[in-house]
Amino acid sequence: MYHIKDEIRHSKLFITLAELAFPQLSNEPFISETRSNLFSLNESDATKHAKPLSHNEIIDHLVQMNLGEIRTRIHISMIAPIIVAFTPEINRSKVKALLAALVDDETSHIAYTAKHLERFANTIGVQKIKELFVRRLRDLHQYTILETEAAVNEYAPEMKTALH
Ligand SMILES: [Fe+2]
Repeated sequence: MYHIKDEIRHSKLFITLAELAFPQLSNEPFISETRSNLFSLNESDATKHAKPLSHNEIIDHLVQMNLGEIRTRIHISMIAPIIVAFTPEINRSKVKALLAALVDDETSHIAYTAKHLERFANTIGVQKIKELFVRRLRDLHQYTILETEAAVNEYAPEMKTALH
């Protein structure tokens, strides 16, 4: 619940970041449309699934979350200087503070998923988790290529060979 609330808050923060960095977009309909289409959570509607996940499923989810959080953390580091550079001077301190808060949150998501994995490693063994990390890192790599290939083709075709 703590994590999902953070991620819901982040989705709203990214809209705020876009508005601060590009104030000329604030009145564009896609900004309000995007904001109203964001996932929201009514905590009282959230119920535990009747059938609990197996330890293997939980570990697999944690590994994927850990890798995903690391990727997000890296993405923020890569894009932060660009966002700040585009932000009008008057909004820069706010934007820097929001980006720093996002980095802190992502770092805590990396840490807490790693802490749970550490606990599982003590019971099911390090080797099994290592193998899962390698497999899921490969999956994430392929997924990232799929997600970014269209943009690379359009904006940096000379980088295409670097993807594979
Ligand atoms: Fe996160």
